[in-house]
Amino acid sequence: MASGTSRDVVGRGLRVLGQAIREQPRIFAVAVTGSVLFGLMVIASAYVVGGVVGKVVVPAVARGSVADGALALAAAALFGISVLRVVGIFGRRLGAGYMQYRLQATYRRRVTRRYLDLPLAWHHRNATGTLLSNANSDVEAAWYPIAPLPFAVGTLVMLVGAVVSLFLTDWALALVGLAVFPALFALNVVYSRRMAPRQARAQRLRAEVSGIAHESFDGALVVKTMGREAQETARFAARAGDLRDALISVGKLRGVFDPMLETLPSLGTLAVLVVGAIRFRQGAITVTELVSVAFLFTVLAFPVRAIGWVLAELPRSVAGWDRVRRVLDATGEMPYGEVALDPATPAPATLAFHDVHFGYEPAEAHLPGAQVLGEVTFTVPAGKTVALVGPTGAGKSTIASLAVRLVDPDSGTVTLDGVDVRELTAASLASTVALVAQVPFVFDDTVRANITLDRPGIGDEEVWAALRLAEADGFVAALPEGLDTMVGERGTSLSGGQRQRLTLARALAGRPRLLVLDDATSAVDPRVEAAILAGLRAPADGGAPASILVVAYRRATIALADEVIYVEHGRVVARGTHTDLLATVPGYADLVTAYEQAEQEREQTRTYDEVTPLTSGLEVEVDR
Ligand SMILES: Nc1ncnc2c1ncn2[C@@H]1O[C@H](COP(=O)(O)OP(=O)(O)OP(=O)(O)O)[C@@H](O)[C@H]1O
Ligand SMILES: [Mg+2]
Repeated sequence: MASGTSRDVVGRGLRVLGQAIREQPRIFAVAVTGSVLFGLMVIASAYVVGGVVGKVVVPAVARGSVADGALALAAAALFGISVLRVVGIFGRRLGAGYMQYRLQATYRRRVTRRYLDLPLAWHHRNATGTLLSNANSDVEAAWYPIAPLPFAVGTLVMLVGAVVSLFLTDWALALVGLAVFPALFALNVVYSRRMAPRQARAQRLRAEVSGIAHESFDGALVVKTMGREAQETARFAARAGDLRDALISVGKLRGVFDPMLETLPSLGTLAVLVVGAIRFRQGAITVTELVSVAFLFTVLAFPVRAIGWVLAELPRSVAGWDRVRRVLDATGEMPYGEVALDPATPAPATLAFHDVHFGYEPAEAHLPGAQVLGEVTFTVPAGKTVALVGPTGAGKSTIASLAVRLVDPDSGTVTLDGVDVRELTAASLASTVALVAQVPFVFDDTVRANITLDRPGIGDEEVWAALRLAEADGFVAALPEGLDTMVGERGTSLSGGQRQRLTLARALAGRPRLLVLDDATSAVDPRVEAAILAGLRAPADGGAPASILVVAYRRATIALADEVIYVEHGRVVARGTHTDLLATVPGYADLVTAYEQAEQEREQTRTYDEVTPLTSGLEVEVDR
């Protein structure tokens, strides 16, 4: 069974290589041409060396003097061959490198492009770590055999050439070649087949060892406070021991096969000398021919190993390729429609949910997916502010995702200005709505780039205007390099509230006609939060206010809304003004009051927008 599977792997691996050749035929041709040139020059060099011995050295020894002309000719021939060999190696290496790295880059782009095209539902099912390794190590592994492939193809041509030249020289010597070359080839195949599973195991254990290390360093706080040092060390030691054993078994195999691969050609040379001496005595071959063939056997041994390298990489390549294909072939498109929603004068948009039902896809297909939203119907009229209030897990973020079409409802409709969002073009959707997510995401880039995101028509003036609306102009102006300040990965050099206001400014810079704020100002001082919302409702520049759907908890924020939608367990339980709901819906009053109490307690122990130690130079305006 094992051999059946490995034959299968070779077959599938060769198909992957075929795919690579189809994608880069010209570069592959260059690399193989270089490799074949090299192979032919290897054979030629053997015959020239033979010629030098037979025609220059032997007569010179007999005569006691060297013929200058013959020596010069031999030197020129060897030099010419060396130059061609160098050209061949250059072409092969360059071509193989080009091909390998080009394919890697192409597929990395395709995989990441696919990630961005796949709907959020797919991302919910796939861990970030897996996505990273698909785009990095899997793509790399898929194309590992490309590096030695041209060498191996050239070597096959060379072996055929060598056998032909042997037959042209002498049939008896050719028989030695026919015995040795296939044996060398077979030995390489056996070697790589035995090696592949050992290498794979070592590779897997390497990943596990670094995974465990990563986990225990990352969780150092937990490990230490829970007194788990000994257990963690033991867990690591066990895996490290497995890795050691796996690597030793790789070494053992090398220890057995490497000497055999070295010895076999030498035995061939020995056989050539024995057979050749007999044939020489019979007068069937000359000294030149004998030396040429003996030399040929010694120079052939190395290139033959290239075939083994390709075979050894095939299992890894197939595994990587399978994982890459899984991404590229993943279905679940979220196709966009054809309708453009771009009014001549930007006016606030109307958002309407009608009888929306939604459930997240289960992590595994056989598990039932729980319904998260049911019968959700509400409207955010043009220019109005609607607050979405509800206990944790009620489905507020899910409603926000549906409103900006990160996910589609299972039934019911979400419309913008009366058009089903599924019928809108991607560009239209992006220019109409903006979501400020519950967890702010900041790119490892400048403040400016984080706000413009390379969108056209957003100059510094627009950036500052957006920052002002988000009440973020103060702290950005105080940054050492203003808009050009680099903010660390995920905004680590910013406080929570600063991060939130930066992402809010990013959404505002695109002048959306509907703004969806998912708890987007929770880390901002309550007074600033209310000021931001008031500013959005009545822009200072006199422009039209956007329609706003805001997930909020704070009384001051909610009180600014024209209407409050109260959700519990994925259903709209009540709606009305804040005052109405406080008076009539007990759950609502409890929630708002409880939140207020918690806030007050927190406020006594902490201030908002504390300066993080990383950026002690930052001035923070808590009270603007
Ligand atoms: N990616 C997901 N996959 C599966 N279930 C999810 C996913 N995201 C959320 N849920 C579930 O959907 C329900 C609603 O979640 P949602 O995030 O919309 O709540 P929320 O009202 O925003 O809560 P919070 O106030 O804590 O932000 C919860 O029961 C949650 O467990
Ligand atoms: Mg939420």
